[in-house]
Amino acid sequence: MKTHKIAVIPGDGIGPEVINEGVKVLNKIASLDHTFQFEFTSFPWGCEYYARYGKMMDDDGIERLKEFEAIYLGAVGFPGVPDHISLWDLLLKIRKSFDQYVNIRPITLLKGAPCPLVNFNSEDINMLFIRENTEGEYAGAGDWLYRGKENEVVLQNSVFSRKGTERIIRYAFEVALKQGKTLTSISKGNALNYSMVFWDQLFEEVGKEYPSVKTYSYLVDAAAMLMIKDPKRFEVVVTSNLFGDILTDLGAAIAGGLGLAAGANINPERVYPSMFEPIHGSAPDIAGKQLSNPLAAIWSASQLLDHLGYEQYGKVILTAIEQLLIEKNVLTPDLGGSSSTSEVGDCIVELIASNM
Ligand code: NAI
Ligand code: MG
Repeated sequence: MKTHKIAVIPGDGIGPEVINEGVKVLNKIASLDHTFQFEFTSFPWGCEYYARYGKMMDDDGIERLKEFEAIYLGAVGFPGVPDHISLWDLLLKIRKSFDQYVNIRPITLLKGAPCPLVNFNSEDINMLFIRENTEGEYAGAGDWLYRGKENEVVLQNSVFSRKGTERIIRYAFEVALKQGKTLTSISKGNALNYSMVFWDQLFEEVGKEYPSVKTYSYLVDAAAMLMIKDPKRFEVVVTSNLFGDILTDLGAAIAGGLGLAAGANINPERVYPSMFEPIHGSAPDIAGKQLSNPLAAIWSASQLLDHLGYEQYGKVILTAIEQLLIEKNVLTPDLGGSSSTSEVGDCIVELIASNM
């Protein structure tokens, strides 16, 4: 029997609750398949850990995570620890150390999922966002001069390397080619006259290698508007770190809400583990009450299965989520139901068992 070693970082707030349900689902699938199993190792890192030890993760944390095939993460962040510390010292540290330069976020309106846009259904909202995940606007390059003085100056630089930009664009072209979809690049070359002009140039350059992929290029502000007015025109989308961050939250809003939004941080070369997480945060306002929706975490578990080569089971999970949304009997309060986090997880497990 094959064993997949997965590192689990439940994190803070609702992180442990939702990850618990995802682990349940993964174990169920493995037990029904019989040819593989999961070995989960949990790490207690996050803000509580920070409060106790003054750091978000152990000093040798990255070294220890290296030996796993994948990382399954809940959410980090809690009042009392500044968000830039919890983000930089854990999440971004993992993304950068493990060169997880591709962030994949499906914006798919499943049947039965709530959508605030009128007149659109699940055929109209089906995009795959591919976001640059290691540099760009989140490179962390800059300076803070004359802090607190009258002549205080703050610099926050973007970093767009040829290697970094080319590889994310090429990855997106490969996905579009494989899926027979169009590819849209989102940038802002009119205002960002270095970084985004460069981005646009590389999009064109790389595109020459993929003559059969139909491409579009939009400015980010126009793209935000079009995602609402005409979401159908977006299929595979490639964009920078900051734009992707913002637009995928917009995407989450039109595709069922944060409780249904998942994201994968991929190191395509598989030199390092990739990381799978719901895109929502730790939701301190509802933490510990079993009110959180575990479907985003369960969806990211399906991305984990895709990554391990079990695409058929990734689909099984999505089908179960869709069934649950259509039947509407077992949902958490954010989706208008009154079920608990674990009741939703149990129901998904049952649906999977009856479908497999
Ligand atoms: P958030 O995503 O935690 O919450 C926003 C709103 O959505 C809240 O009202 C929350 O109750 C609700 N919500 C989120 N996930 C939900 C779920 N699964 N089920 C039901 N309702 C859900 O974002 P917020 O409040 O801006 O941030 C809270 C903390 O989380 C901060 O410390 C922030 O830094 C951190 N954060 C961490 C992320 C990560 O680990 N990837 C991502 C975003 C925020
Ligand atoms: Mg975000």
